[in-house]
Amino acid sequence: MTVSPFLKSCAMGTREESRLVVARLVPEPATAQVLAGERAATGVWAYNGSVPGPVLRARQGDRLRVEVENRLDEATTVHWHGIRVPNAMDGVPLITQPPIEPGERFVYEFALLDAGTYWYHPHQRSHEQSGRGLNGALIVEEHEPIRVDREMVWLLQDWRLDQQGEIVGPFRDPFDVTHAGRIGNVITVNGRPPAPLRVRAGERIRLRIINAANARIFGLEFRGHRPNTIALDGQPVAPHEVPGDKLVLGPAMRADLVIDFQGLPGSRFEVHDTFYPRLSRKLLDIVYSDDPPLRSSPPEWPIALRANPTTEPDMKRAQRHEIVFSGGMMGNMRGLPRGMAWAINGQAASCATGRPFDPLLWLKRGETCVLRLVNDTAWPHPIHLHGHVFRLLARNDRPALHREWLDTVLLHARETAEIAFVADNPGDWMFHCHVLEHQEGGMMACVRVA
Ligand code: C2O
Ligand code: CU
Repeated sequence: MTVSPFLKSCAMGTREESRLVVARLVPEPATAQVLAGERAATGVWAYNGSVPGPVLRARQGDRLRVEVENRLDEATTVHWHGIRVPNAMDGVPLITQPPIEPGERFVYEFALLDAGTYWYHPHQRSHEQSGRGLNGALIVEEHEPIRVDREMVWLLQDWRLDQQGEIVGPFRDPFDVTHAGRIGNVITVNGRPPAPLRVRAGERIRLRIINAANARIFGLEFRGHRPNTIALDGQPVAPHEVPGDKLVLGPAMRADLVIDFQGLPGSRFEVHDTFYPRLSRKLLDIVYSDDPPLRSSPPEWPIALRANPTTEPDMKRAQRHEIVFSGGMMGNMRGLPRGMAWAINGQAASCATGRPFDPLLWLKRGETCVLRLVNDTAWPHPIHLHGHVFRLLARNDRPALHREWLDTVLLHARETAEIAFVADNPGDWMFHCHVLEHQEGGMMACVRVA
């Protein structure tokens, strides 16, 4: 059964536009038509019976209240990826809340400080729970959205299925843990086989792309088109054309694109995913209708978004730390506890151990922190910090062109990056690789802000 996520939304308080948006999420076993056509349906775990879960939508400044009722056979939580929530609402089992046991409920409630493209997923055994389909988009609209003809969300998932369409186990396969993570063999867009993107000549679309895969990195090429990036990880960025015409999104990362469809009526183009040369393939077609162009040249409407209320790092008084990511195949795994393959500054930790772990960093509330992230491994890692957003300052010691705000930064093999943020949200915050098998395999730490 599909449950509508929204119970109600009502005006609240004196500010007319600030509302309480109430929704309900029920994680449960379900079936979904992941494969094309007449093929068999796939047994999945789903929020409200659908993969991905429902798109939750609210407006910046609203409060979101989500009641979660766990109908799985195992405990779960929900993490609101990229949202700067109070610590108790962050959905990390044993650290910010007790796991929601089967049959139990938990109510999350928080204010939406930032507009943008976010998503939600379990933080309890997320490698299996998210890998079986538990994830969904959370869209926070601007008070004055930019003008476009249409807006769309693409939530990308990656499945490892057999011929019959069933999910192939095991999760946490030792090979996946020590290599690139669980990369699948079937990609879906919004839970379905990628369908053609049907457009009208001249139209402008805002496309919100979310990489909800466990491990797959996407490199999307919109052949014949020049998308502009206007936000990364939900945070506005100075609009710029996608570098090298390839949008690279690691697990958990998001991009908001503005695309002007300037092809001729009746024409066709292709979107390819070319991140892994060996796995390069067409994702879908862009198909123009025969209708006459909506307009003859791209509209003049501005595409820059207004900044979110993030606090600018104070670089002069910053505290600096070096964080080294190590381990994995072709790396140093010596001295790590059994089953662990990765470490952050020499320490391997994961939620699987079932006990809280010692903070990697202790930060004073309000202080600026600059982290030099060193990927001392042969593998890429999308590194995510909870509760905060950070500015990307540099990569391999070269200043970042856009100094973008992010919540997840993709470190390529042997790459370094420098990030800065103001530790303005008190609590214990997870800091981990978002390749979920790496996270399970020890690439996780905790940053304490007090
Ligand atoms: Cu998307 Cu620690 O999470
Ligand atoms: Cu990793």
